[in-house]
Amino acid sequence: MTQPQHDSRALRNALGRYATGVTIVTAIDPDGHPIGLTVNSFAAVSLEPALVLWCLDNKSHNLEAFRKATHHAVNVLAADQQDLSTRFATWPADRFAGLPWHAGVGGAPVFPACCATFEMAKVTEHAAGDHTIFVGSVERFSETPDLAPLLFHAGRYRELSDLA
Ligand SMILES: Cc1cc2nc3c(=O)[nH]c(=O)nc-3n(C[C@H](O)[C@H](O)[C@H](O)COP(=O)(O)O)c2cc1C
Repeated sequence: MTQPQHDSRALRNALGRYATGVTIVTAIDPDGHPIGLTVNSFAAVSLEPALVLWCLDNKSHNLEAFRKATHHAVNVLAADQQDLSTRFATWPADRFAGLPWHAGVGGAPVFPACCATFEMAKVTEHAAGDHTIFVGSVERFSETPDLAPLLFHAGRYRELSDLA
């Protein structure tokens, strides 16, 4: 169905038909505290050089901290990490309280038991409407093959299933 361009609810719904994985993007703020939020706007950009991007809402509490950070880490969540996704999308306070993590390149927090992690040095940022696009150069990455990913589609968490 065609919708008027200004109907942002309808646009959001239509965009939600594009199924994605779910990540938590992290960094260290200028005071040395870990920051992070749930993100599904992560995307591959280039292989040579290795570049990835993600988009941050300009209303984020951590916009300035992510802009100042030299490194970001992208943690690609597994199907059994839905709680982590909810926590990093909703908790206003210390989202890292009680969680295991280690400092990746540039200090950005890396979580265990993810499908993949990408530790990136921030290369550029672009103002794009109500979001900021961060492009990073992948300095280190890891993957756990065989670990089922957490998916997001039409406003709901999903799991992967093979087609017959
Ligand atoms: C599945 C999912 C994907 C999301 N993707 C993004 C995203 O790509 N960019 C973004 O800025 N917020 C995204 N959000 C919303 C943020 O996680 C949420 O608004 C969070 O509370 C922002 O925290 P902050 O203000 O502390 O940065 C997503 C939320 C969910 C549940």
